[in-house]
Amino acid sequence: MQTDQKAEYESGSEKQSYDFIVVANRLPVDRVEGDDGELSWRRSPGGLVTAIAPVMQESDGAWVGWHGATDEELEPFENDRIHLIPVPLDEEDLELYYEGFSNSTLWPLYHDVIVPPEFHRTWWDNYKKVNKRFADATARIAAQGATVWVQDYQLQLVPKLLREARPDLRIGFFNHIPFPSPGIFSQLPWRKQILEGLAGADVVGFQRTADASNFLRCMRRYTDRTVKGSLAIPPASPEASGSSPNICRAEAHPISIDTQQVAELAHDPEIIARAKQIRQELGNPKTILLGVDRLDYTKGIRHRLKAYGELLADGDITVGEACLVQVASPSRENVERYQQLKDQVELMVGNLNGEHDTMEHTAIRYLHHSYPMREMIALYLAADIMLVTSLRDGMNLVAKEFVAAHTDDTGMLVLSEFTGAADQLTQSVLVNPHDIDGMKSGIMRALLMDPQDSARRMRRMRRHLRDHDVARWSQTFLSSLALPLPVDTLV
Ligand code: G6P
Repeated sequence: MQTDQKAEYESGSEKQSYDFIVVANRLPVDRVEGDDGELSWRRSPGGLVTAIAPVMQESDGAWVGWHGATDEELEPFENDRIHLIPVPLDEEDLELYYEGFSNSTLWPLYHDVIVPPEFHRTWWDNYKKVNKRFADATARIAAQGATVWVQDYQLQLVPKLLREARPDLRIGFFNHIPFPSPGIFSQLPWRKQILEGLAGADVVGFQRTADASNFLRCMRRYTDRTVKGSLAIPPASPEASGSSPNICRAEAHPISIDTQQVAELAHDPEIIARAKQIRQELGNPKTILLGVDRLDYTKGIRHRLKAYGELLADGDITVGEACLVQVASPSRENVERYQQLKDQVELMVGNLNGEHDTMEHTAIRYLHHSYPMREMIALYLAADIMLVTSLRDGMNLVAKEFVAAHTDDTGMLVLSEFTGAADQLTQSVLVNPHDIDGMKSGIMRALLMDPQDSARRMRRMRRHLRDHDVARWSQTFLSSLALPLPVDTLV
């Protein structure tokens, strides 16, 4: 940190500069109201914070992010020994940066244009403004030579902004969602600025090798950097590119789950009892199929319902013998495409249940809620077949959680080949969700699989998850970020 800046931030008695900083759109906490009406913060569920919390606590790190409400400025605070640095968003930022550019431009563009992305200059202007706010907040609190790890598509300009303000920092970026091929990425009017924003990082991490190579192909095509292997090298004169001359390395680092925690919860007697209760409440069907998704058009929920509906209509599956539980947690509810999807899914569920339900049994138990982790594990345990049918998905951690929860090797996973998880969970029944007949036969294959065969597959996948958990993900990324560049790459 420049001396004057450092003095400014260390003037208080409390330590205000950090050696390790995570920057993400959201802070890893949710505000909860106690019985007495008192508001407090609780750590949000999810792999990222689980993985990073130990590193944070060890290195006395900080997390920079938005706390989830608009028009409210909060002072830095501490939760679970993590220093939280809130970045405020106002109503306009929510509409233009979050719902607009992040979730109606980048999200559909990066998920292979499943719905058409919208390009609006006002959204882009606000995205730049908010990214600058995140970068400034980080630059202010980073200690000299600190490591900063920026997360996800909402903050792609932060690495370059941060490097310009603080060339002393080691900067990593991780993209949790897919990175599109140059043909699709080329639609973005601000493609060059986004790529240069990312290239401000020393290491840019992706879920799949295919994402890293898409990124490098885009770098080669749309910036003046030279791509050599996994490196994007700036032109010899920094002025020519207008950015600091850092070399950026692209790598695949597939994210994972806290496998041990899931397995421990799966052995919790209360959760096991709850799983039994769920089965009973559904009328003890022979087979429970399960879908768990944010209500998002990338998840292929309609395709899944279509395949399931046809299996019912064909008589391959009978209501009473089987039941589909579909958890669809509310998400991005102000974005029009999400509202449309909700209507479409609810219409399909209504039609299918109207057609196939009996007085006693339902075809689909549809739950438009989100649930705490313990209830999710009970649901995984109650289910026989997990259906993950995304049309495009960066990773899909639900697929991994289901496998990790079945410590007795029961159950089977039907998994879309368009998920990052398909690269690792290769023993699942892989399906193409666009191919409804293929998906129907995939579901039937999982349903009729010889238990010895499915147990062997589940065991192998679980072993993979034991060896590749989320702690290993963050360790490998951070070790790679700490590596010096090989001298012979410097041109
Ligand atoms: C995906 C993204 C995350 C995002 C999450 C929930 O997993 O990769 O960055 O936080 O969805 O979406 P939300 O818009 O509610 O943060």
